[in-house]
Amino acid sequence: MVKKLKHQWWRSPQNNNYSFLIKLGVSVLLVALAFVLIYNKSSDSFALSASPFLQNTISQQNTHHIPTKEYGTDSEEKCNLFTGEWVAYKAEPVYTNRSCSFIEEHQNCMKNGRPDTNYLYWRWSPRGCELPRLDPGRFLQLMRNKSWAFIGDSISRNHVQSFLCLLSEVEEAIEVYHDKNYKSRRWLFPLHNLTVSVIWSPFLVQAAVFEDSNSFSTSDDVELHLDTLDKIWTQPYKSLDYMILSGGKWFLRNAIYYENNTVLGCHSCSKRNFTELGFDFAYRRMMRTVLNYIIASNHKGMLFYRTSTPDHFEGGEWYEGGTCKREAPVQEGKVELTELDKILHDIEVEEFEKLSGKVSESGVNLRLFDVNPRSLLRPDGHPGPYRFYQPFAKDKEAKIISDCLHWCLPGPIDSWNHVLMEMVVS
Ligand SMILES: *[C@@H]1O[C@H](CO)[C@@H](O)[C@H](O)[C@H]1NC(C)=O
Ligand SMILES: *[C@@H]1O[C@H](CO)[C@@H](O)[C@H](O)[C@H]1NC(C)=O
Ligand SMILES: *[C@@H]1O[C@H](CO)[C@@H](O)[C@H](O)[C@H]1NC(C)=O
Ligand SMILES: *[C@@H]1O[C@H](CO)[C@@H](O)[C@H](O)[C@H]1NC(C)=O
Ligand SMILES: *[C@@H]1O[C@H](CO)[C@@H](O)[C@H](O)[C@H]1NC(C)=O
Repeated sequence: MVKKLKHQWWRSPQNNNYSFLIKLGVSVLLVALAFVLIYNKSSDSFALSASPFLQNTISQQNTHHIPTKEYGTDSEEKCNLFTGEWVAYKAEPVYTNRSCSFIEEHQNCMKNGRPDTNYLYWRWSPRGCELPRLDPGRFLQLMRNKSWAFIGDSISRNHVQSFLCLLSEVEEAIEVYHDKNYKSRRWLFPLHNLTVSVIWSPFLVQAAVFEDSNSFSTSDDVELHLDTLDKIWTQPYKSLDYMILSGGKWFLRNAIYYENNTVLGCHSCSKRNFTELGFDFAYRRMMRTVLNYIIASNHKGMLFYRTSTPDHFEGGEWYEGGTCKREAPVQEGKVELTELDKILHDIEVEEFEKLSGKVSESGVNLRLFDVNPRSLLRPDGHPGPYRFYQPFAKDKEAKIISDCLHWCLPGPIDSWNHVLMEMVVS
């Protein structure tokens, strides 16, 4: 059965009524969040016809040779590592599902039987400059005795696994710590004495989440203290040399907001009668608290605030049978963020911009790591139904819930690290 696509995710977001969305988009988002954590329902599957607008839009550049123009001080103006395009690239990915043991089952698309491999053969080409070829060995040399932390939600986990995979071509990391639920973990590259952590802190601020072992209960409001940071990352903060912090979709859920231990209001609170403030309010306040803490910290390392990443459900939300069956990137300007993803990204850019003067005065090395625009162009990079092992082995028509939020490994998320390592090395 072919259902007509709603094509909502690239629809031009004219006539946006943000406050409406902020207040009423919630029920959808709650289920979307449940998806992130649970994935246990079945839904309709859709046959998706190839989209004609994708044809012949991506430049074909099948070459191994990458000119390595420097983008140091003199060309800094022209070169923005975060805007550009994906160009076809024939070289094999740096690692495979065989060479890297850090790929989570749900993102091991090759192993799980994803039939197409086109999504592996693209490289990110920033506007006005070229990314030099990734050199994991050189990177590891420079990272002797250093410690890294990726702080955030399951996308940060996705990100750290890509990071470990890229480096594991040179040296295999060993796990030296994990918490009870394997949400926060730490690895060591013994030969280089490099420590890499992933720290589970989906809100970055202090949160009381009432969750059972597998998921959170959406009927209860999470209590967020927007002026108090989550100790799980502020405690090791001083000892970390490199940090990548990020927030995102967890802020869309129902919550009660506190500052100075006083309720300010809430977002879609289920039981109590507080002022509706919208998740955008909380996301902004959280970012200010995080950025002001960093500004005042006199930290000597290098810090990044990573922007949130878009999802690519087409033909409906995940629970409505939404899928992501594309097999190639889309061209810049041909896609738009969903309204909710746009709200998050706008806040990230605006709040960072507002405090950028204070950041440079303070001397801390903090940058916005804006992976959002480039990720938007990669609807082909998600596991889709291949978050499960051989989902169609028994039944070709099986109704499988798609994951169009996390990224296949190897996959487009590797380019985040390619840029990250380049920024650190140069
Ligand atoms: C890697 O993926 C291939 C399919 O591309 C599969 O045959 C193989 O079993 C996978 N191996 C591992 C170790 O995941
Ligand atoms: C790493 O730490 C060890 C022990 O403290 C020290 O001997 C070595 O010089 C350090 N290496 C670098 C590159 O900092
Ligand atoms: C490893 O690096 C840490 C700093 O991150 C340093 O304190 C320690 O001495 C180093 N250990 C070795 C064996 O070099
Ligand atoms: C925080 O609340 C206390 C009372 O609970 C009050 O005395 C104090 O002035 C408040 N601080 C701020 C910054 O609002
Ligand atoms: C909720 O609060 C508003 C104003 O604070 C009040 O007018 C309204 O009656 C309250 N509703 C309930 C159900 O308590």
